[in-house]
Amino acid sequence: MTVPKVLHPFAVPARPADDFLEIVRAEGCRVWDSEGRSYLDGTASLWYCAAGHGRREIAEAVAAQMAELEAYHTFSRFTNRPEQRLAELLLELKPIPDARVLWTCGGSEAIDTALKLARAGHKAAGDAGRTVFLSRYYAYHGVMLGGTSAGGLPTNRDPYGPLLPDFFQVSRDSLAAMREAVTYHGSERIAAIIAEPVVGAGGVFPPPPGYLEGLRELCDESGALLVFDEVITAFGRLGSWFGSHHYGVTPDLMTFAKAITSGYQPLGGVVVGPRVRAWLEADEQYMLTHGSTYAGHPACCAAGVANLEILRSEGLFERAREVGPRLRDGLEALLDRPGVVEVRGEGLMQAVAFEHPVAAAAVADALPAHGVIGRALPYANTLAFSPPLVVSDAEIEEMVAATAAALADVAAMV
Ligand SMILES: Cc1ncc(COP(=O)(O)O)c(C=O)c1O
Repeated sequence: MTVPKVLHPFAVPARPADDFLEIVRAEGCRVWDSEGRSYLDGTASLWYCAAGHGRREIAEAVAAQMAELEAYHTFSRFTNRPEQRLAELLLELKPIPDARVLWTCGGSEAIDTALKLARAGHKAAGDAGRTVFLSRYYAYHGVMLGGTSAGGLPTNRDPYGPLLPDFFQVSRDSLAAMREAVTYHGSERIAAIIAEPVVGAGGVFPPPPGYLEGLRELCDESGALLVFDEVITAFGRLGSWFGSHHYGVTPDLMTFAKAITSGYQPLGGVVVGPRVRAWLEADEQYMLTHGSTYAGHPACCAAGVANLEILRSEGLFERAREVGPRLRDGLEALLDRPGVVEVRGEGLMQAVAFEHPVAAAAVADALPAHGVIGRALPYANTLAFSPPLVVSDAEIEEMVAATAAALADVAAMV
């Protein structure tokens, strides 16, 4: 048995090389493997491909930018046109009013950046004792040490301990539990509460009514910052531009990545709201000693500009609002099958939850034989669908029919 040269992320290192699915081509909502088989991309890759695959406009914008200026760093006083243009386009959408944006290379880096900005901001404001972060069980905040320490999925935490001090998790849907945690750790010690508006990789859990508003109130009362991790929810997935709009709750910091470029180039960032801005901008000598080599990379930002123009001109978040309920209805029709216990989600982020002996991983494994890719989220025994926002009604039906067929395969085996 040989293993591949690549050590794959979130994979079994001992998996044999001939067990991998090599993807060679993609168009719209469909991808093709090296054997010529095609699959409906029911997950928009890893939640990110909002605009759909094979968009020439984005590829050409990146190529044109690379031919003009492939890259130059943005530390200190250097800048480039694409990073400025993308910041303008992004901030016009008002993820947080009166904000600025700091670029990163992806979501994990955005989370750790937001955590550092929260502490640095409080410290700059003369409140250096605020070092505690509160987050939720089931949360996924990326793979860096800060995000891992804030995360609430045991399998992602256990191999890497001891994790960072001053990070604590509470129940994912109880405001009372969060309030207790603030009191227990001391409201004057909380740097920030961090939450995904809709828990994603932990199992697709929309917030209970009033939950996010309650977090906002708790932060306002205690002086803590509210950080929304919108790496999945930003740029249309819920049927609004941002989770903050969708739920009408404005955070102080917002992380994003994925659909800012629909994945055509790696890019992420932090939207920095007025409260943190004011702290960092108050002293004209203050130096922000954070940022990575490729922050504001012009080719990545050029992809972002072309992508946002597509999302805007084709009204794709409105499309998510329209087609999400169709996916939801289709999946709900499976509720009478043995082992199917719940369908939940928002917009084009929907999931089916199973109970023993049906395992989401087995259903996800059975799906490609029926021409569809779905994603198992094993902690909550859930199968998630988050197709590109350009998904057609017929493709939604195809996804639902394949899920029914995969369920029947699994039922025959258990
Ligand atoms: C909510 C959330 N935060 C952070 C991340 C990490 O982003 P990345 O994989 O780009 O580092 C993800 C990735 O799926 C995510 O879903």
